[in-house]
Amino acid sequence: MRTHVVDHPLVAHKLTTLRDERTDSPTFRRLSDELVTLLAYEATRDVRTEQVDIRTPVTETTGVRLARPRPLVVPILRAGLGMLEGLVRLLPTAEVGFMGMVRNEDTLEASTYATRMPEDLSGRQVYVVDPMLATGGTLIAAIRELIKRGADDVTAICLLAAPEGVEAMERELAGAPVTVVTAALDERLNDNGYIVPGLGDAGDRMYGVA
Ligand code: URA
Repeated sequence: MRTHVVDHPLVAHKLTTLRDERTDSPTFRRLSDELVTLLAYEATRDVRTEQVDIRTPVTETTGVRLARPRPLVVPILRAGLGMLEGLVRLLPTAEVGFMGMVRNEDTLEASTYATRMPEDLSGRQVYVVDPMLATGGTLIAAIRELIKRGADDVTAICLLAAPEGVEAMERELAGAPVTVVTAALDERLNDNGYIVPGLGDAGDRMYGVA
């Protein structure tokens, strides 16, 4: 597994406002959307393309377009929904699948309550979006399911990651074709499984309800 922390002043600037507890939900949603687009630029660096012949008004030439099978984008509900638009804007040919996962706040175990994706993901590049890589439980379960369905290249895009979560993913998904792209690798998890310094509960801050 590869981890890529995107080091860019615009990313750092937007992330700082996102972390600030005074940032309201509409601003939080707008910044998440903008941040995921910046992260997606890095995350899609290896998106597959194919060569095409075209004619400009001046001459014939060749270019590229996104290859088939089409990439699949999978937001992890609920908070991943706030990252969907920012990614598909850059990947116009992508299909979108959904995974609904919830973390038990006592045991920190992830469980799946809804899945809507193609059964066969053979040969597909998949982009999973979930804002917070905390213990890693949710992303590990989601990525295992994607690989079970045949996905051969999975990129997880997260706004923030904790070292504990990255280590768990490296351990549990060793050797799997997985890349994590994040805006920051924070200090640690606290006893409640929250990322420190973090930004709090991403779903609550996005949607304003617990
Ligand atoms: N989920 C969140 O929304 N925030 C955290 O800090 C950890 C998990």
